[in-house]
Amino acid sequence: MQYKTLTLASLTLFGAASAQQVGKEQTETHPSMSWSQCTGKGGSSCTQKSGSITLDANWRWAHVTSGYTNCYTDNTWNTTVCADGAKCASSCAIDGADYGGTYGIKASGNSLSLTFVTKGSYSTNIGSRTYLMESESKYQIFKLIGNEFTFDVDVSKLPCGLNGALYTVEMAADGDMGKGNNKAGAKYGTGYCDAQCPHDLKFIQGKANSEGWEPSPNDKNAGSGKMGACCPEMDLWEANSISTAYTPHPCTKNGLTACTGSDCGDGDNRYGGICDKDGCDFNSYRMGVKDFYGPGMTLDTGKKMTVVTQFIGSGSSLTEIKRFYVQGGKVFKNTDSTIDGVTGNSITDTWCDAQKKAFQDKTSFQDKGGLKQMASSLAKGHVLVMSLWDDHSVNMLWLDSTYPTDKDPATPGIGRGTCSTDSGKPDDVETNSPGATVVYSNIKFGPIGSTFAEPS
Ligand SMILES: *[C@@H]1O[C@H](CO)[C@@H](O)[C@H](O)[C@H]1NC(C)=O
Repeated sequence: MQYKTLTLASLTLFGAASAQQVGKEQTETHPSMSWSQCTGKGGSSCTQKSGSITLDANWRWAHVTSGYTNCYTDNTWNTTVCADGAKCASSCAIDGADYGGTYGIKASGNSLSLTFVTKGSYSTNIGSRTYLMESESKYQIFKLIGNEFTFDVDVSKLPCGLNGALYTVEMAADGDMGKGNNKAGAKYGTGYCDAQCPHDLKFIQGKANSEGWEPSPNDKNAGSGKMGACCPEMDLWEANSISTAYTPHPCTKNGLTACTGSDCGDGDNRYGGICDKDGCDFNSYRMGVKDFYGPGMTLDTGKKMTVVTQFIGSGSSLTEIKRFYVQGGKVFKNTDSTIDGVTGNSITDTWCDAQKKAFQDKTSFQDKGGLKQMASSLAKGHVLVMSLWDDHSVNMLWLDSTYPTDKDPATPGIGRGTCSTDSGKPDDVETNSPGATVVYSNIKFGPIGSTFAEPS
């Protein structure tokens, strides 16, 4: 999430909120989603695992444990209950979710569908963020190094400004259950963090982020508190029907760090925090190949495709992050960079050095330790996130348009996709594309070469 700051919106009327006790008004039933663990060669030997999905805590209704009074409504806290962050977390409960009716989340077999705007009886929900579970109370942990992660995705219904993102972050498997006043845990989607050190999280490590909370000026569901939640992030897939990128984001500290002040890397201090907010991104369009990914192109975004990401290495050593695609039974290698001074079609430290230099981008990826530091986090295991979001900060232009918008798109690194620099405004996409949907399916995971037939 290259330029994301705080974005993921939620409910309006009930007020989506998270808290740390468990509410009893709605039973939490995780939608089932199976996936495959592969062992042999070329996808021939895969066994089905029965997993399930949970919704992130930030989207859930938070109310006082003893009744229906909201702890958080729209984008403000109830200051009577939540003046003190720790006390707030002990007085407020997050509740179960009506996945389909309230949040537009539908799982079936090995497939998960997320719809952008859902009008329920009490609320309008925008976007969602979900995690794959191993059990009722634990997130599934993936150790990516030496393995490949493969999934199918349908981005045909994702216009400019939306981002269907499938990625991993170094959250705790139990969602920080027991930390501070967190009695909800992974079952209720607690413990999120990412490399943008988001401040929009309502609870971090069992404490409400209510102190110093400022409602967002342009998002009626979001705000930001003093605390951010930083951790390393591996974006396997950030995409809509126009552009796609995959991006490692290391941090100098592994695991979740509840940041305050300069560690968060806020605003003008973007490069002074503990995480690499830019990452080292591979976007084919940005790397000079403009006819590869898109509607009717080589990889036709009008149809489902398979995305393969290989993490070449072993133990805690990672040398390369490699990409293949499969569509219509045909395997496509990732595109080679056509940018002067940058060669190759996969992410290595050498490739990132060359890309940053050619684009005159800041070297935050290298400064935060590059692939070596990323590997130290991946080796500990990451949680899988599947989400759909719009961007209240910069309208997703960093993914699919010309960015910065005042620069010439012909300058290397500036053009990222064909979307207009006026596109992607949350008000526009929420009004004009409420039915936008992403479908993730057929997840396969296993050693390199085990999930698909790689061309020789
Ligand atoms: C805030 O919480 C208190 C205590 O539960 C409650 O009496 C009050 O009505 C709430 N305020 C709002 C605006 O919901």
